[in-house]
This record gives sequence, C-alpha cells and structure tokens, in this order.
Amino acid sequence: MKRKTIIGVVLAIGVVGLGFAFWMMWRPEIATVSQPLKADRETLDRGRRVVEAGDCAVCHTRPGGAYMAGGLPLVTPFGTLFTTNITPDPESGIGKWSLDAFERAMREGIARDGHFLYPAFPYVHYRKMSDADIADAYAYLMSVDPITYTAPQNHMVFPMNFRPLVSFWNLLFLHGDPLEPLPNQSAQWNRGRYLVEGAGHCSSCHSPLNLIGGEKSSERFNGGVVDGWTAPALRGMTEAQHPWSEAQLVAYLTGEVAEGHGAAAGPMLPVSLSIAQLPTEDAHAIAQYILDLKKTSSDAPSPPCTYGVKPSARALMGASLFDGACASCHGGAAPMRVIESRPALANTSAVMADSPRNLIQTILQGIPMSSAASSHYMPAFAPSLDDTHVAALAEYLRNQSCANRPWTDLDKTIKSIRAQEQQP
Ligand code: HEC
Ligand code: HEC
Ligand code: HEC
Repeated sequence: MKRKTIIGVVLAIGVVGLGFAFWMMWRPEIATVSQPLKADRETLDRGRRVVEAGDCAVCHTRPGGAYMAGGLPLVTPFGTLFTTNITPDPESGIGKWSLDAFERAMREGIARDGHFLYPAFPYVHYRKMSDADIADAYAYLMSVDPITYTAPQNHMVFPMNFRPLVSFWNLLFLHGDPLEPLPNQSAQWNRGRYLVEGAGHCSSCHSPLNLIGGEKSSERFNGGVVDGWTAPALRGMTEAQHPWSEAQLVAYLTGEVAEGHGAAAGPMLPVSLSIAQLPTEDAHAIAQYILDLKKTSSDAPSPPCTYGVKPSARALMGASLFDGACASCHGGAAPMRVIESRPALANTSAVMADSPRNLIQTILQGIPMSSAASSHYMPAFAPSLDDTHVAALAEYLRNQSCANRPWTDLDKTIKSIRAQEQQP
C-alpha cells in the first residue's frame, strides 16, 4: 500500500513535470496565408518608419546582400547565429506568414512554424510596440522585393543549440505589455520613451548583460559592450564632464557631427543613420527621454579632471604621430575641424571614456564612408599603424584630457581587439 502510494506520487509528479515542460517548450504552428493584399501608400510610409526605428535592416541585411534577405552573422557568447530572410519570398522568406504569425514573432519570439527564436532578435523590446506599428511594419515588409535566399546554418554551442531552452530564458526576461503613455509626462517624452524602450531597443546595447545574456535590470542604460566597442552609459548625460545639450544629442543621433562631442562610429553609426530617416520630432523625442535618464545612486561620481601631467616618452611619440597622421583632420588648425565644428579630440567620449576600447576601434577601423553621412569619413589605420603606434597615440590623446586617470589596460586592450579582428 505504502509502496503503491509512493509510485503513484512519483508518477503524478512525472506527468505534471512532463506536462509543464511540454507546455513551456511547445508552441503551435500558425497556418500559412497566400500573399496578402498590397497596402496603401500611407500605411507603407508608416511601416517604413517603424522598420527604420527598429533597425531591422541593420541586422537583416548582410554586407553586399539584398535588403532584408538576412545572412548577417551575429557572434554571441553562445555561438554564431545568422539573421533570417524577412523579405516576402514565400519559401525562403516570410511571404506566407499571416499578420498573427508576424505579431507573435515580434512579441514572443516564436517563428510561424512554432520554433523558438533566439533573443539576439530583440523581441523582448519589440514586444512593447503598439499593434498598429507592428501591423504597419508587416505591411511594409510584405511590399519589399522578395528575395530567394536561405541563411547559413547556425553554430550554437550545446545546450543552446536546443531551441526550446529559450522558453526558460523567456520566463526570466520576456514580460511587459505594449507601452502606454504616462499621464504625468509630456507627449514628446512619452514618444521618446516609446521609441527608446520599444523599437529602438537602445538598452540592449547600452546595458550590462548577465551571464546568460539578459540585460541586468538594475543597471539598465549604465553602459555595455557590443562587438568589441563600449556602448557608453546613457544615464546622466546632462551631468557629464562635458554635458550634452538637446541640440548636440539630436545631431549625434541623426548621423551628424555633434558640436563638442563628435559623431557616431562603430555599431552606433547604422543606428544613427536609421534615426536620421525618421521625422525630426522623433529624434527630439528620443533626445528628451535620454537626457531625462538620471544616474542611479550607486554610480560613482566622475573624478575631477586635472591637466598638465608631464608626458611620458611614449606620449611624446604619440604627439608626433598625431601631427603626421591625424592633425590634417583633427589638429587645431585643420580646415575640416572649423567647417564641421568638429570637437578637439580630447573632449570626445572616445578619449574621455573609462575604457580605451572605442578610441582604439576608431583608430583601427576608421569611420566608413556612407552616403548619408559623407562628411565624416575617417580612414582605417589598422594596416598602417602597429600596436606601439596605436598605444602611443592613445596615451598622448588621453594625456590631453584627463591626465590623472591614465588608462592602465591600454596594451592589453589593443592586443585583444587586434586578435578579434584576425578572426574570420
Ligand atoms: C540585433 C539584430 C536584429 C534586429 C535589429 C532585428 N532582428 Fe529580426 N532576427 C534577428 C535574428 C538573429 C533572427 C533569427 C533568430 C533565430 O533564428 O533564432 C531574427 C528573426 C526574425 C524573424 C523570424 C523570421 C524567421 O524566418 O523565423 C522576424 C519576423 C524578424 N526577425 C523580424 C524583424 C523585424 C521586423 C525587425 C525590426 C523591427 C527585426 N527583426 C530586427 C536579429 C535581428
Ligand atoms: C547595436 C548596439 C547599439 C544600439 C542598438 C544603440 N547603440 Fe548607442 N552606441 C553604441 C555604441 C557602440 C556607441 C559608441 C560609439 C562611438 O564611440 O562612436 C554608442 C553611442 C551612443 C551615444 C553617445 C554616448 C556618448 O557618451 O558618447 C548615444 C547618445 C547613444 N549611443 C544613444 C543611443 C540611442 C538613443 C539608441 C536607441 C535609439 C542607441 N544608442 C542604440 C551601440 C548601440
Ligand atoms: C581624413 C580625415 C581624418 C583623419 C586623417 C583622421 N580622422 Fe579621426 N575622424 C575624422 C572624422 C570626420 C571623424 C568623425 C567626426 C568626429 O567624431 O569628430 C573622426 C573621428 C575620430 C574619433 C572619434 C571621436 C568621437 O566622436 O568620439 C577619434 C577618436 C579619432 N577620429 C581619432 C583619430 C586619430 C587618432 C587619427 C590619426 C591616427 C585620426 N583620427 C585621423 C576624420 C579623420
């Protein structure tokens, strides 16, 4: 009798456990549809703006590849995965997806056939978008050129190659409803919050991540690392050593050179070029919301700046390298600098930052020529400067700004960034 009870209990627990696992890890397929009707011009225009605000093309278009056809590799700590084809091609793209299937992908990270999508696709943020915006984005995507292309196989490490495990990740990080405006804030502030927290998914790069790749909720917007670049903290920008004004931030966010601060480079460049495609009111709204993000109380105050420490031999070498390689564009008398109101480099975020990462990345990679921001091209110096040169330049520039806080990890950081670049 007693034995039977135990077996019964164990079986019951087993059945409930299996049922729970099944409920957690299984999602139904959503039926296919034939090509939806073409939407009107206004819907398509709105949809294009939603897609720009969400940077969809930044991830879903590989270099040299067709618009939205996917294939861009994303390197994560859990392996490499490739973005998928979201053109309306019926077989290799999402041409047979209904609006319901698209909306479920955007809000819950589930593909039409029911498989879990990896959270490198920022559905955690897109979930906060309005029904209308998601429907417009769908209509727009269904109107782009259908392209037949299938992305390469992902290389995810065990056990993350088992997609249903994402369901447990979702349990921790996927929550919240579409954002409703806060009644005590202005319409502009609310619009900024909607764009930043929803489509813009800004905190996915600008926050530190925990071990399983989720944003640390207590440290949102306190800065993160993405593709070997620092995405600086977005809190306290009005209280920084070189505070940002709204006009400067709007210029920066729309791909221009912000007076006194510089221009977006690295992974921020495509983001700013997308925001440049939105109505200017949207850029102002984003700026207003960001400038309102205050430092959290746990943040250490920035130490005061002091100048005039005697330069080391390396910094002196950096000074002459600067005259030869950089001064034509960045020197005090450089014509470009006056025309574009380019800041003295010593005041830019790259030189002021706690980590030399962005300065090194900018020197090595330069800023690629893009038609939308043709005024801020900078050549890549990776082929012409060796590690000693880069370190000397960095030390010289750092000396020009906050000499009391020299970078101690300069050589190590240069080595690790070069090593990353050598990888295929
Ligand atoms: C940070 C990069 C990134 C951005 C930005 C991004 N995506 Fe994706 N998206 C991905 C990745 C990676 C996948 C594939 C995930 C997987 O296979 O598990 C994906 C998958 C999808 C899918 C599922 C497609 C399929 O065939 O299963 C849809 C739909 C989608 N994205 C739509 C969008 C839309 C719309 C936007 C813009 C609002 C967008 N994505 C922005 C990275 C991104
Ligand atoms: C793909 C990752 C990524 C996303 C998404 C992203 N950023 Fe950035 N952001 C960066 C990186 C990297 C930098 C540093 C660029 C540099 O130094 O040139 C940066 C720099 C910035 C800066 C300059 C900060 C400073 O102190 O110099 C601002 C402001 C900014 N981002 C705002 C935003 C906003 C607003 C959004 C959302 C609309 C956003 N970012 C989305 C990666 C990202
Ligand atoms: C052909 C002109 C040109 C040359 C040469 C050049 N740069 Fe630049 N650089 C630019 C432009 C344009 C920008 C983008 C506007 C800005 O941020 O000031 C830029 C941006 C930067 C930034 C980013 C500043 C920020 O916004 O945070 C750094 C750092 C930098 N350059 C360092 C250097 C160094 C060091 C050298 C020499 C090895 C150099 N540059 C040579 C044109 C140039």
